Amino acid sequence: MQKISLVILFLVSSWSGFTQSASRTTVIFNEGWKFFLGDNHQAKDPSFDDVTWRNIKLPHDWSIEGTFSDKHPAGVGGGALPGGVGWYRKTFSVSKSVSGKKMFIAFDGVYCNSEVWLNGHYLGKRPNGYISFQYDITPFINLEKSNVITVRVDNSQQPNSRWYSGSGIYRNVYLITTKDIHVDQWGTFVQTPEVSNENALVTLSTTIKNGSKKSASVSVVTTLINAEGKQISKSTTLDDVAESGSRKIDQSFRVTKPTLWSIENPYQYQFKTELFVDRKKMDEYVTPFGVRAFSFDAAKGFSLNGVPTKIKGVCLHHDFGCLGAVFNVRAMERQLEIMKAMGVNAIRTSHNPPAPALLDLCDRMGFLVMNEAFDMWKREKNKFDYHLHWDEWHTRDLEDHILRDRNHPSVFAWSVGNEIGEQWDTTGVRITKELVSIVKRLDPTRFTVTANNEVKPTNSLIKAEALDLIGYNYNHKAYENFPKDYPGKIFIGTETTSALATRGHYDMPSDSIRRWPIAWDKLFTEGNADNTVSAYDNVSAPWGSTHEETWKLMKKNDFLSGMFIWTGFDYLGEPTPYVWPSRSSYFGVVDLAGFPKDVYYMYQSEWTNKPTLHIFPHWNWTPGKLVDVWAYYNQADEVELFLNNKSLGVKSKKEDELHVMWRIPFEAGTLKAVSKINGQVVMTKEIKTTSSPARVILTADRSEIKNGSDDLSFVTVSVVDADGNIVPYADNLVKFTLSDNIEIAGVDNGDPTSHDSFKATERKAFHGLALVVIRGKNRKGTAKLTATAEGLQSSTIDLVLK
Ligand code: GAL
Repeated sequence: MQKISLVILFLVSSWSGFTQSASRTTVIFNEGWKFFLGDNHQAKDPSFDDVTWRNIKLPHDWSIEGTFSDKHPAGVGGGALPGGVGWYRKTFSVSKSVSGKKMFIAFDGVYCNSEVWLNGHYLGKRPNGYISFQYDITPFINLEKSNVITVRVDNSQQPNSRWYSGSGIYRNVYLITTKDIHVDQWGTFVQTPEVSNENALVTLSTTIKNGSKKSASVSVVTTLINAEGKQISKSTTLDDVAESGSRKIDQSFRVTKPTLWSIENPYQYQFKTELFVDRKKMDEYVTPFGVRAFSFDAAKGFSLNGVPTKIKGVCLHHDFGCLGAVFNVRAMERQLEIMKAMGVNAIRTSHNPPAPALLDLCDRMGFLVMNEAFDMWKREKNKFDYHLHWDEWHTRDLEDHILRDRNHPSVFAWSVGNEIGEQWDTTGVRITKELVSIVKRLDPTRFTVTANNEVKPTNSLIKAEALDLIGYNYNHKAYENFPKDYPGKIFIGTETTSALATRGHYDMPSDSIRRWPIAWDKLFTEGNADNTVSAYDNVSAPWGSTHEETWKLMKKNDFLSGMFIWTGFDYLGEPTPYVWPSRSSYFGVVDLAGFPKDVYYMYQSEWTNKPTLHIFPHWNWTPGKLVDVWAYYNQADEVELFLNNKSLGVKSKKEDELHVMWRIPFEAGTLKAVSKINGQVVMTKEIKTTSSPARVILTADRSEIKNGSDDLSFVTVSVVDADGNIVPYADNLVKFTLSDNIEIAGVDNGDPTSHDSFKATERKAFHGLALVVIRGKNRKGTAKLTATAEGLQSSTIDLVLK
């Protein structure tokens, strides 16, 4: 029996071009798919029987469901998870009301080498796993009978990535219906050539397509609407669009006393563009935008709306740890919330086009975005990576990337490549020029950059003299020579810091088992005792720096316009310098489960005005052991440390110091830090020696979630002693039971060496913490989640499904 779904399902609101009206509909096309892991070319035949295939809902990543092994061809760098070939099918019918309309199927991203058929007709292929694309399915749609869309995804040729890619249709799919005369895909472009607090000039160009067999006189009516829904101005333009042709219409608008888009107040306006022919409405298309101005100065760095602003960024890969590559708006929003609270104001989408919703979130939450296109050009980094497709696809992929993302107010720069092999090759000059000219043709308003690990002026990409900014990856020792090496040029730290840390693990100077720095090449080949690294900010790769080293330089020098830490979150794959059994990275300021490492609070103390006082490590050691206690603080001029109410002295940061430290022999009890300004207490923090684990505590980030959607609750599991202190060494196995209206989307604990499945109903704690991610199952009401662990008191929480 075929499973048929009628397509008029969920309507998408308010994103660019996603207006619902009688003339245009955009429906999320994620429900009711069938999936088969393996290869079967007969599946493209519409009559193929897929009854035995698995029912799934998109977005979907089959790799994350696999078992960890260093034998998978993706290697440990790829996350030690399987790739392979997978097929997806969806059977659907459309209502007769779409007769005479245009229909498109749009994919936000499929990893990788996707091929798509509708009713057996081949629609096309797309090798790039991060690019968005759509097909016109109008000629092949059956109005009378059911339709079958089939997608083959081929991620079998490995390795093709230096990090975990995931496999499958891992982002949203949409079905779009328009009339013959409509705004083209990504068909608008907003520019803000004049911006001040008094006045702004905003221009809009709209590409109109006429898919009919006769030319039409099209009236383009654009309304500029503010965030409160008030109409600010309106413009009407009449023009002819030839049969089967297209035309670009330019309109301009003045906004007096505009509310500018900024990091603190990410205010957005929108254009509503309506097309009419003979007074009949043909289309309605919404383009959100922000009024803001970016500028760079070789001596003073970056300014937003004329206000000097240091770029305090993080690089992010696209996976969500236990959710794999499956894009989820709430998972992304949570990551950005955690970054915002740390003081981050910019994201680099390393090293590929992101899910479009990431940019919507950055627009709305106030992040700047360096939007990156490629990790390699024609020269390979891995045997089966994108270099194989470079010649045939790079122009199209880059064009589509720019067209899709150029209206987002958050995007300030296009990076056309990361650590490109052609830096050392004369072809790099030509390719750089070519890529920059593609970008500038489609978007002359943003800055272009490449992320270079060759920072000498002999680098071909820099020698091309085409890029607006010079991006350094690492090489912090060369920062201060930049004005001499590149007189008059603009600096940006595209990738900075290469520090490693395992949350909750501390090596002391007195530990004889490990002495830092351990020879880096030795770590690569041998690992160390347990593939853990100290959470003190004192371990960095030879090419990079600790967090403090780079931030000190950035802080001191105005010409350094900003930085992007590698990375905000740990990510799957690339456990460099560790080898198996590690399977995920150690570079994040926050671990894979979303729990901050200590250095998070260094940034918080420096990058926010939020009063911060953070002391570490934990206070469970053997008596007499010499322990380094560090404190990060702000809004205070000194910190006093007490052990069992005895003062261990007052310390304050000298010169450019970013933390204070006491080296003291351990004695069980309470360690208390008190920060003060002018003798007045600002904050107090205590860490206690714990007794053994006594109970489990569940804490949901949000106890109310929307049911029947992709909303998630991220629930922290803490293993605490009888007094409620998190036990720093606790690794108890915690089991979850759930009411039948919720399910587990994933479990994790942030341990980069764990080989336990992320798709389970139990997880061991790691340094006292674990995570369980909960999703509703289409029923309103109250849900219950219980966590039990042998010998410990259990915990139950209620979640409300709205
Ligand atoms: C950089 C690279 C990143 C990541 C990082 C690990 O050179 O651009 O993608 O591999 O090194 O240290």
